[in-house]
Amino acid sequence: MSEDVKKGLLGIVVDETEVSKVMPEINSLTYRGYAAQDLCARCNFEEVAYLILNGDLPNKKQLKKFEKQEKNERTLSKNLISILKQMPKKAHPMDVARTAVSVMGLEDKQTSDNSQKANLNKTMRILAKMPTALALFYRLRNGKKMISPKKKLSFAENFFYMCFGKVPNKDIVKAFDVSLILYAEHSFNVSTFTARTITSSLSDIHGAITGAIASLKGPLHGGANEEVMQMMKKIKKPERALKWINKALDNKQVIMGFGHRVYKNGDSRVPTMREYFKKVSKIKKDKTFEKIYDIVEKVMIERKNIHPNVDYPTGPTYHLMGFDTDFFTPIFVLSRITGWSAHIMEQHAANKLIRPLAKYKGSQHRKVLSLNYR
Ligand code: SDX
Repeated sequence: MSEDVKKGLLGIVVDETEVSKVMPEINSLTYRGYAAQDLCARCNFEEVAYLILNGDLPNKKQLKKFEKQEKNERTLSKNLISILKQMPKKAHPMDVARTAVSVMGLEDKQTSDNSQKANLNKTMRILAKMPTALALFYRLRNGKKMISPKKKLSFAENFFYMCFGKVPNKDIVKAFDVSLILYAEHSFNVSTFTARTITSSLSDIHGAITGAIASLKGPLHGGANEEVMQMMKKIKKPERALKWINKALDNKQVIMGFGHRVYKNGDSRVPTMREYFKKVSKIKKDKTFEKIYDIVEKVMIERKNIHPNVDYPTGPTYHLMGFDTDFFTPIFVLSRITGWSAHIMEQHAANKLIRPLAKYKGSQHRKVLSLNYR
């Protein structure tokens, strides 16, 4: 058995999947064969969620049934509401999200059933309830009353409504919906692989998604969209951006929102998200972040030949939409529940316990001396 260590599983193929693929021939991320940018142009998030979970785009009847099921599951149990009310106001919303899923797992009547049908139903409950749980925490920590979900609103509209008490104009909602489509799925990224690893012992979907949320929180993964905004807030003005980024690179800083393990010449999701970032900047009449965006990107490509990833345009877009910075990665969760769940079901369908090897470099064998002689 060869013992050459591939740290970070760099370049290692560990399983097969049908959920998504970055197709070099069209330089696009594809979900079940459809290019993500085409889905952004022609579908809403609910249609794409159905596609990722069921393998094909829904017809009108299937979509209506899917949307109805999602809307009917948006309410939280009294128990979960009371637990959210006791959460420390300073808790990170990613930790609140992780805890909320765990509580949902305690309450779900199908927790111990790992069948495809039960897992699809559990996914719908987690997908539908997570926005309500996060919006409730957002309201509570800002000293405001809970706003209950509204069935007549779409998934995207309803999140704005439960957070801010109103639905913004349709272009803002479309930009948010596009970000959800682009965030939904990305093959064996670290949080998805975490979910698959947990599933490989035949543990349940709530546990696997709890682990995935913990993984997504990291700044090298989903947490990068928050860090992008922190960076832009530090830069503050476009005229400070050039000096700031050059100094950061001189200090060998890792610049959040840039680089990717798979894409080495640019994340295929960025052009679409950049376009909607531009639209939202125009609606909000604030070009500050766009100017900072362009200056930092130019230096990163010129000095390091490192391109933006999807978190780079998404961070400032969420800021312009009015979300608190530490809510950016939780929004990523709302969307990625679909990708994680598809992979969890795929793992169950063709499971093999995930258990890699390690190259040992510790002490050789030695005798134990009893305490008096140590
Ligand atoms: C997501 O996997 C997915 O699909 C994830 C995701 C998804 O949809 O699930 O796409 C979402 O997580 C996007 C990535 C968000 N993370 C960030 O923006 C954090 C900043 N990026 C870097 O930490 C880094 O680019 C990674 C972690 C994303 C990828 O890094 P790799 O593939 O492990 O490569 P590496 O860290 O070994 O970098 C190779 C070289 C290094 O220089 P040397 O040590 O060889 O001199 O490139 C440099 C790195 O220092 N480098 C960077 C950099 N990214 C890589 N230098 C400065 N800033 C960066 N952002």
